[in-house]
Amino acid sequence: MINLITSFIFIALCFSNSFSDVSEPWQLGFQDPATPIMEGIINLHHDLMFFICVISVFVSWMLLKTLWHFNASQNFIASSLAHGTLIEIIWTVTPAFILLIIAIPSFSLLYAMDEIISPTITIKTIGHQWYWSYEYSDYQNESGDPINYESYMIPEEDLTLGQFRLLEVDNSMVIPTNTHVRIIVSAADVLHSWAVPSLGVKCDAVPGRLNQTSVFVKREGIYYGQCSEICGVNHAFMPIVIEAVSLPQYVLWISNKLSD
Ligand code: CUA
Repeated sequence: MINLITSFIFIALCFSNSFSDVSEPWQLGFQDPATPIMEGIINLHHDLMFFICVISVFVSWMLLKTLWHFNASQNFIASSLAHGTLIEIIWTVTPAFILLIIAIPSFSLLYAMDEIISPTITIKTIGHQWYWSYEYSDYQNESGDPINYESYMIPEEDLTLGQFRLLEVDNSMVIPTNTHVRIIVSAADVLHSWAVPSLGVKCDAVPGRLNQTSVFVKREGIYYGQCSEICGVNHAFMPIVIEAVSLPQYVLWISNKLSD
């Protein structure tokens, strides 16, 4: 009976559509990726993990062997060996070669992140002490003003059941899925950093400077992030919430915002 229940739970988990787009207690791994860039980051991490494991096992094995064979109780007379050309060439060339192998996927990912493919939408996000504001300057209402609003954290005492402490905001940023969105990041007062783990974005918000990044969200959902640059006493209280919706829903949201 127990077996039946556990296998049922296992099957249900395998087929469930739930993703982790928010940090969890005692979490060690990544949140689930929602953009091709984040998938690339996770894959690169796994690739590097392979090299790290092989190198750490090899180095520890070598250290332990050395401790064993060169122990004073086993060798009363110290060896006069000072250098060996061949081994020195090997231990210089091998790490360089490993770095070269790592550089290939690393650079391809780096350039993929840098590339901004003719974006459909541009959104400007500005960091303030201590909230974010969003500007959709692609659209203008009848009086010629762009969509512009502020996004404040919901304080703990106002949270409803199921909401995330220190992560929920009153006005989230809304973007459509399967669309190239350019995000322009700046700050109004001090350094902030606009970061959303599931989207693979972490972009410094610097006063007097425009940084740009792009996202291509593959699935609908609510993505949580936090300011990632120490910006003052309320640094921990300026979260980022992104709602990725379908294109028709996004258009509806924009038209509602414009008629406000
Ligand atoms: Cu804004 Cu830290």
